[in-house]
Amino acid sequence: MLEISSKSLETYLPAGANPFAQERTERVLVVDDEHFIRDVLTKVVSAEGFKSDTAQDAQEAMQKLAQAEYEMVLTDITMPGLDGLQLLQHVATHYPEIAVIMITGVSDVKSAVHALSSGAYDYVTKPFNVLELKSKLHKALDRRRLVFENRQYQLDLERRVEEQTAELRNALVGIRNAYSHTLEALINALDARERETQRHSKRVSEYTLLIAQQMSIPLAELVDVERGALLHDIGKIGISDNILLKPAKLTQDEWVEIRKHPEIGYQILKGIDFLEEAARMVLQHQERFDGTGYPQRLAGKEILLGARIFAVVDTFDAMTSDRPYRKALSYQTAREEIIRCSGTQFDPELVECFLNIPEQIWFKTKQSLVA
Ligand SMILES: [Fe+2]
Ligand SMILES: [Fe+2]
Repeated sequence: MLEISSKSLETYLPAGANPFAQERTERVLVVDDEHFIRDVLTKVVSAEGFKSDTAQDAQEAMQKLAQAEYEMVLTDITMPGLDGLQLLQHVATHYPEIAVIMITGVSDVKSAVHALSSGAYDYVTKPFNVLELKSKLHKALDRRRLVFENRQYQLDLERRVEEQTAELRNALVGIRNAYSHTLEALINALDARERETQRHSKRVSEYTLLIAQQMSIPLAELVDVERGALLHDIGKIGISDNILLKPAKLTQDEWVEIRKHPEIGYQILKGIDFLEEAARMVLQHQERFDGTGYPQRLAGKEILLGARIFAVVDTFDAMTSDRPYRKALSYQTAREEIIRCSGTQFDPELVECFLNIPEQIWFKTKQSLVA
């Protein structure tokens, strides 16, 4: 409700349309129960080039807000029925992108301050000065635009980050695939030479994972262990055919040659960044738990976990596969041999893990890899 004094009357009247006002697209909803005030405010709003609409109370304003789009609500605080503060609450909740300016009497500045803390952009006191009102209209709409642009910028930024993350993820998948293809190519090169033991590398890798699963190894480490297992015999590429493929027992000298394969493998892999850790496991895969292995005679936990795991499964696979000089041994025989060598050739803890895995799991895993 508004009391108009003769002194203040002229301050309500707009000085006419602003000849410099540009056509604006923003729509302003003027809410006041006083017909006269609505008219004055509408004239000011239109004179500044904005599109205007009116509502005589908060209820009507809510209906209009639900039906059309507005950029600003210019509302009286004191109105019959729902007051301006309740309308502000409604706008803040349902249309947070709308800027609200409150109109209040000089005696009710407290309500205006409360309105500001509830999300109103600004307030004007009645009787209001037209110039001040115009300036506040523009300021509020400019601020709203800035908030909008800022939000848009944030959204664009988030979208760009999301896009780049997706690109990065794809690139990583690509790199990972390239890694696996590189490993496959290396293994195929080895398999092509050593036909009798084809798929040995793949089986050792899968068997290693069976044991590793029981050890709760962190994923990053598991990737290295898997690569190391797959490549453990890659150094055999450097061993001559007449030793590697000899269909009979090896002589002492030939054993000396074949025992070079962990070091040859290490030399092949050591310069490759993503295989650095795997290369160290390759170097150590013929070490023995009691320190009598080769090439460095490491003992116990000095030997990398991955290398200790595939020492067990490497032997298991060698025993349970056909060799040029003998037929495959049974699971039971291989199991007994592994138990016999626990603590000497193998880490007893890992032998335990090996024994925990039932025979049919080993069998199934082997069958799944039959080429
Ligand atoms: Fe080996
Ligand atoms: Fe092997």
